[in-house]
Amino acid sequence: MAPKSTKRIKKEQTNINVNKIGTKNGLFNLCLLVTSIVAVLIGLAFFQFYVSFTTVPELPNFDLDKWWGPNTTKLQDTSIRHFRIVFTGAMQENLRVLFDYYRGRRPRAKSLNESWSYGVHSDALGQFFAHWQFKYPFRERVRYLNKFNHFKTNIQGLDIHFVHVKPKVDKNIKVLPIILVHGWPGSFRDFFEVIPILTTPRPGYDFVFEVIVPSLPGFVYSQATTKTGMATYEIAIIMRNLMRRIGHNKFYVQGGDFGHTIGSHMATLFPDEVLGFHTNFPVNFSKLAQLIWVFGSIWPTMIGGEHSDRMYPLKEKLSYLIEESGYMHLQGTKPDTIGYALQNSPVGLAAYILDRYMIFTNSSNKDTVEGGLESISSTDLLDNVMLYWITESMTTSLRLYKESFVNSETEQILGRVPTTVPTWGLRMKYELVHQPDWILKWKYPALLGTTTLNVGGHFAALERPRELAEDIFIAVKKFLKY
Ligand SMILES: *[C@@H]1O[C@H](CO)[C@@H](O)[C@H](O)[C@H]1NC(C)=O
Ligand SMILES: *[C@@H]1O[C@H](CO)[C@@H](O)[C@H](O)[C@H]1NC(C)=O
Ligand SMILES: *[C@@H]1O[C@H](CO)[C@@H](O)[C@H](O)[C@H]1NC(C)=O
Ligand SMILES: *[C@@H]1O[C@H](CO)[C@@H](O)[C@H](O)[C@H]1NC(C)=O
Repeated sequence: MAPKSTKRIKKEQTNINVNKIGTKNGLFNLCLLVTSIVAVLIGLAFFQFYVSFTTVPELPNFDLDKWWGPNTTKLQDTSIRHFRIVFTGAMQENLRVLFDYYRGRRPRAKSLNESWSYGVHSDALGQFFAHWQFKYPFRERVRYLNKFNHFKTNIQGLDIHFVHVKPKVDKNIKVLPIILVHGWPGSFRDFFEVIPILTTPRPGYDFVFEVIVPSLPGFVYSQATTKTGMATYEIAIIMRNLMRRIGHNKFYVQGGDFGHTIGSHMATLFPDEVLGFHTNFPVNFSKLAQLIWVFGSIWPTMIGGEHSDRMYPLKEKLSYLIEESGYMHLQGTKPDTIGYALQNSPVGLAAYILDRYMIFTNSSNKDTVEGGLESISSTDLLDNVMLYWITESMTTSLRLYKESFVNSETEQILGRVPTTVPTWGLRMKYELVHQPDWILKWKYPALLGTTTLNVGGHFAALERPRELAEDIFIAVKKFLKY
């Protein structure tokens, strides 16, 4: 009996021992379990994060015939009509009266120091104003603006204006259609020095271009919609329908600024129609790209490679972007408020536009009185200001920012869908943001190459027409071989 009970006791003791160890072990196991769960959760969160950044979303359905014009029961006029630009005597007289008024109210606040730190410098604006009053050759400029053929045609209810230049060449030279898309605060005028180069045969190339330069809806001579929702992808559809109206079902696209975004959307939405996409704003600011940019500051050369000095130091670039993007926030939220204010005064309009040309052509311009505007002809800049002024289109042009902000979800989706269209990027020295090729390839897997220049800024067409045109030739030669 005794040994049995001893055994039992032993067993019980053992059990007790086991239980004792079990309490310690249990705590340990619990810790292990909690840690594992937390680890798995963190892992899942990272995975979710990664997936949300890298999965390719489905392209939404777009209405390719959406009606943007006023409601009408009339049959749509699909003809292509000739158009000429006029600066009437009345327009000139109206400006003269406003100029007199402006002169009469001087002097006013002078700039505080020898820089554009507080915005437009009063001396530079004064000089620009003097040029407008006394030196801007109205009649000659109207002749200049009319040197190419202008047309209008109704697309989806809106009268869309465009310049169309067909080259005259021998039969052995191919003629390739290309659409050049401007941005803000630009216009079709930006491309006037680019067009003659693109339409003239070059040694080493067996093609030239048939050039189409539209005005975006709501910009200068293109009718604005009275409906909401005209975001960049809706303009991309209108631009594609314009090319079809002209008779081109396959064509090349070039753009910078909004022209880049619109061109990029055209390549994404119509990969079988866009033969190649050339951009002088080669960026795609996806969330992943932004994240990598921020973390890349730990090791700039690994992320940016040869472009690291254009992307970093991060703090400097970020504070530049913050200081210089206020206009975007304003236009993206209250375009009409600023638009009506600008449309009320020619000099006010000019001041607002000049500030953008100053900073985006060369960020160091800010530290000078002249703002670097002496490097772009005042007459060229004034052509653009005049076009916005006489067409009273500043407000409707600014709404594009609002529509892009409001519809940013769809913009994001389009920005994340890669396009098979062969693509080429031109990086100007003072572009606002830079991205290396390997990041660009997420969005543009058929990125055939990029050119990096040590001159110029955001407005390549206006600033460096020769370099831009040459780069388009180089790119399209590569596209043809692809
Ligand atoms: C125009 O047509 C649309 C759609 O049919 C309608 O929602 C809108 O109220 C109409 N607008 C006017 C001004 O009649
Ligand atoms: C002008 O003033 C601003 C603000 O105080 C300052 O940051 C800038 O360096 C000054 N520039 C010059 C050229 O004095
Ligand atoms: C940029 O602007 C600064 C100041 O105006 C000037 O010294 C510099 O040469 C400009 N850079 C280029 C590449 O034109
Ligand atoms: C780049 O990507 C972002 C985010 O994915 C998107 O919102 C944007 O429209 C894209 N930009 C262009 C020019 O395609």
